[in-house]
Amino acid sequence: MSRKLRHAFGHFATGVTVITCRDAAGVPVGMTANSFSSLSLDPPLVLWSLAKTSSNYAAFVAAPNFCVHVLGEEQQALAGQFAVKDADRFAGVSVSNGQGEVPIISGSHAHFECATHALYDGGDHTIIVGRVLETHTAEAVPLLFHCGKFAKVAALG
Ligand SMILES: Cc1cc2nc3c(=O)[nH]c(=O)nc-3n(C[C@H](O)[C@H](O)[C@H](O)COP(=O)(O)O)c2cc1C
Repeated sequence: MSRKLRHAFGHFATGVTVITCRDAAGVPVGMTANSFSSLSLDPPLVLWSLAKTSSNYAAFVAAPNFCVHVLGEEQQALAGQFAVKDADRFAGVSVSNGQGEVPIISGSHAHFECATHALYDGGDHTIIVGRVLETHTAEAVPLLFHCGKFAKVAALG
């Protein structure tokens, strides 16, 4: 079932994000995630789901702050870099500090600086809800993910 289910889930086209935080030692941590979703306008909430098997699990569930970066089409390499296991994912990446010292990667289509608001069990994932503290947007063409491949927007009509 899990192979068939994963295949079916992949038919839902999504955007692509890189989500960052700092671990307990203050070291930047980040990973590619397409489970991001807007949740609430008032209060301002977003959510994403984190695999319990992730090497970043302990860092994200303990982090008081995280930042969701919505990637643009020209950031496909970044999406790949932040999904590689046991790599220096921040190599060559320019980072500044946001609220709660959260690492902000420059050049994203949008980013959401968040305070961790709630954690919910979600089977083999944990659902992380963030309260949005700050947003930033820029003109860009979004990067998409569909059926296991990166894709781009094609305008209709
Ligand atoms: C397009 C894409 C979307 C992903 N979305 C998620 C996600 O929403 N949640 C998650 O836990 N891992 C997601 N991953 C996997 C992580 O980015 C990472 O590669 C994986 O967790 C293995 O590394 P880790 O153990 O260091 O986390 C995604 C990977 C890719 C390429």
